[in-house]
Amino acid sequence: MMLSQIAAALDALLEWEQGTAETMIELPPDPKLGDAAFPCFTLAKTLRKPPQQIAAELAERFTLEGVEASAAGAYLNFRLDRAIYAGRLLQEAEGSPITGTGETVVIDMSSPNIAKPFGVGHLRSTVIGAALYRMHAEAGYNPVSVNHLGDWGTQFGKMITAYKHWGSEEKLKDSPIRESLSLYVRFHDEVEQDPSLDIEARDWFRRLENGDEEALRLWRYFVEVSLTEFNRMYDRLGVHFDKVLGESFYNDKMGAVVDELRAQGLLEESDGAQVVRLDDQEMPPCLILKSDGTTIYPTRDLATAMYRHDQLGADKLLYVVGAEQSLHFRQVFAVLHKMGREWAKHCMHIPFGLMKFEGKKMSTRRGKVVFLEEVLDEAVSRAAAIIDEKNPELQNRKEVAEAVGIGAIIFGDLKNNRIGEINFSLEEAVQFEGETGPYVQYTYARACSVLRRAGDDYRGKVPIESDALSGYVWDEASWELLKRLCDYQTELKRGLLRYEPSVIARYALDLAKLFNRFYHYNKVLTDMPIERKIRLQITHLTAQRLRWALGLLGIGTPEEI
Ligand code: ARG
Repeated sequence: MMLSQIAAALDALLEWEQGTAETMIELPPDPKLGDAAFPCFTLAKTLRKPPQQIAAELAERFTLEGVEASAAGAYLNFRLDRAIYAGRLLQEAEGSPITGTGETVVIDMSSPNIAKPFGVGHLRSTVIGAALYRMHAEAGYNPVSVNHLGDWGTQFGKMITAYKHWGSEEKLKDSPIRESLSLYVRFHDEVEQDPSLDIEARDWFRRLENGDEEALRLWRYFVEVSLTEFNRMYDRLGVHFDKVLGESFYNDKMGAVVDELRAQGLLEESDGAQVVRLDDQEMPPCLILKSDGTTIYPTRDLATAMYRHDQLGADKLLYVVGAEQSLHFRQVFAVLHKMGREWAKHCMHIPFGLMKFEGKKMSTRRGKVVFLEEVLDEAVSRAAAIIDEKNPELQNRKEVAEAVGIGAIIFGDLKNNRIGEINFSLEEAVQFEGETGPYVQYTYARACSVLRRAGDDYRGKVPIESDALSGYVWDEASWELLKRLCDYQTELKRGLLRYEPSVIARYALDLAKLFNRFYHYNKVLTDMPIERKIRLQITHLTAQRLRWALGLLGIGTPEEI
């Protein structure tokens, strides 16, 4: 609001088309410089004057009630009259949700492989995907989350073989992922001594593809027990899927894709395999059929994309998958394009970087393995220990520790740009100080506690009469917090534009820091009625925004910690 008014006044002053200056206005890096800034560099070219001179001249001529303009070097800085603007900002912070276009956005997320360990990549995909899902929903899109389970492939031949040789039904039921992993590891160890195991595994997979009763029964069983375990983790992470459509779902849908590719003359033979050449796009060929005629990962993704577009009505298709699969997705999208699917341009790979836990990889085939569930448990028990120390009287300690522990992990992931590599330290992530989830949660609880102590006479007491506002002295801390509270929709838009939940996480951190500063310098529960009212309103808005931001990230907000 305030920026657009300043921008309109600038447009008028410079005889520009409406809306031009708005794209150029910036927030000064240091709030001491003012509330908004207009850089004059580009103007210098057209006006053939030094930018400093332009800034000085504009400062002379600029008039807008409640706004003071001053030149600082090549910048024109604006300072708002706090008494005039505070009332409007307080209104604005209440806000109304963005109402998007209702476009259907299908989000491929999590997508772990059955009978293989749930890797850290799957955890990141789950957490980032779920945040993007909520952000889209909040902005008025129609998101559809799909778990593209890796429930088909040669690994099932290996699993069945290993299970037949060394498996135990009981162990598999008790701890499916651990047992699957140990069977998997054992298979890979033993096959080095005994190559016939590999032949056996291939045979089992062939039987599975041909619909053999026993193979199918075992396959279903593996899928079912693993899914039960995955679901337990999804519950704890607060994640839900609109669709769980594993790779096997496309078994009967790939024939048509291969036929169409052939009919279009796009298939070529290469070393006995069938491929689509992508030389024109400087990419290696996309493999469609292996030399033994079986379909593979890219073929499934072609059928999957078509299903999502044609059957699920996707306007946009997002794939939240690790950066190491970039080439795969570029190839798949390029093939779709060659097949004449114009909508391929709405397919987007949303990559992310590696995450290590205290320097260790989570779930690797060999060597050190950290299990997701253990990581979650560890985070929760550390959170519980800290809470016990901080607030031994706390009611529902268990629930709160769960929310804080899980929140610590989610926040520790989402506060980073998704593409960067993360070296995750659980020790740090569960602290109540620093840039952590618990810090934000704790700040939220602190705001709630102030509101509780105030009784409920603060709610619905806006608008605060302008007379009252004009008497209030806006200190730096309250003013900065108030302005930041108004930014939430801009932040959501920015986060969506870049598919970056970290924008929301950073916003939550900023609010938490600003609130704590505000709280430090201002007594909220003071006896002075106007001050009390305004500060309570700010506190109330802060609590609302923090709950909003943490909610988007999938982090719980206990009112007491
Ligand atoms: N299951 C795959 C993996 O673990 C990820 C699947 C990603 N989604 C997709 N449509 N290919 O590598």
